[in-house]
Amino acid sequence: MPGEMRSRGAAVGGRAAGDGPAAGAEVRSVPVKLGDRSYDVLVGPGAVSGLHGLLPASARRAVVVTQESVPVEVETGLPTTVVRIPESEAQKSLATVESCCREFARVGLTRSDVVVSVGGGLVTDLAGLAAALWHRGTAVVHVATTLLAQVDAAIGGKAGANLPEGKNLVGAFWQPSGVVCDTDTLRTLPEAEWRSGRGEMAKYAFIGVEGLAGLPLTEQVVRCVARKAEVVSADEREAGARMVLNYGHTLAHALEAAGIAGGDRPMRHGEAVAVGLVFAARLAFRLGRIDDERVAEHEAVVSSYGLSSRLPGGEAPAGLLEYMYRDKKARGRLTFVLDGPSGVEAVTGVEDPDVLAVLEEMASKLGQEVA
Ligand SMILES: NC(=O)c1ccc[n+]([C@@H]2O[C@H](COP(=O)([O-])OP(=O)(O)OC[C@H]3O[C@@H](n4cnc5c(N)ncnc54)[C@H](O)[C@@H]3O)[C@@H](O)[C@H]2O)c1
Ligand SMILES: [Zn+2]
Repeated sequence: MPGEMRSRGAAVGGRAAGDGPAAGAEVRSVPVKLGDRSYDVLVGPGAVSGLHGLLPASARRAVVVTQESVPVEVETGLPTTVVRIPESEAQKSLATVESCCREFARVGLTRSDVVVSVGGGLVTDLAGLAAALWHRGTAVVHVATTLLAQVDAAIGGKAGANLPEGKNLVGAFWQPSGVVCDTDTLRTLPEAEWRSGRGEMAKYAFIGVEGLAGLPLTEQVVRCVARKAEVVSADEREAGARMVLNYGHTLAHALEAAGIAGGDRPMRHGEAVAVGLVFAARLAFRLGRIDDERVAEHEAVVSSYGLSSRLPGGEAPAGLLEYMYRDKKARGRLTFVLDGPSGVEAVTGVEDPDVLAVLEEMASKLGQEVA
């Protein structure tokens, strides 16, 4: 099981959002072990009140990077400037990173100061990149306010921005000095964002975190964070083992890139991951890596999170395959992350006809037209 977890009492000072820690609830601390770049992730109701303890002692000033629609205020205990960045993924750009850095310049942020991101994965990715670039590397602490950012994006030090040519094509590995996953901040999260986070959580069921269903939310987040921490500690720069975190993501990225609608709106990342998990299971079954019971398990986990494993219409299998090839992780032939006798692992050399057959099976099974 994932690395050690320490508990801290919940009575850690005032809170910035919500009504205070629930009685008896406690803030947990999960370490991410990376030698001299190790840090703690605080998880639980009211965890944001522990923010100050995660800031580097050298910091004399903070810049908070957030968005208008994130209703979370933080107390850094330092002179603080708040920068609000645009809401849309279309503006997850180098231009936005530049505008953050210009704001850092305007307020005189030094290399020993700190950037604090407060938001979902879009904010933590962009603020992380701005911090990585500012004076060639300034400390950043992430306050993750979406479920997806708490269980995934804010942990592990991948920062990035999109180019018109593709998502997350520019970025850096820049570990935060600490991360806060205050579960109280999720109270205001729209249902679509909950669904998205649950899709990412469903992934963990197949990469070593079984039995999440029914546990208290804090415990679920703690276990996902601990697993991610364990994977990142073993392979910080995605030389191999970290690939397991991309389980379900090959098709998910294609669905997102194709802008495919789930229901009447574009799919959120985790919703696409949910479909991608079932696709990966079916592909693994076709390749003789797993049996049909294991495929059914994938479908059951996805539906237990209230998510659909339905391949939405709108893009023919051949089009989705094309998007998979465009994904930055495809080098020549497609690499999939697939379940198998020794668990989830990267599998190279999957043939196009197998991929197409599974996509067609998923599309036709649901009575959709396949062009
Ligand atoms: N670095 C990584 O390892 C990693 C991993 C997964 C995803 N990502 C990135 O994360 C991004 C997606 O992140 P996301 O799913 O968190 O979406 P997001 O950051 O776009 O947030 C979704 C929406 O929720 C709003 N919001 C955030 N917190 C809120 C709160 N507490 N209450 C109400 N509204 C709130 C945001 O303003 C936004 O409108 C993508 O850009 C993706 O590339 C990065
Ligand atoms: Zn993901």
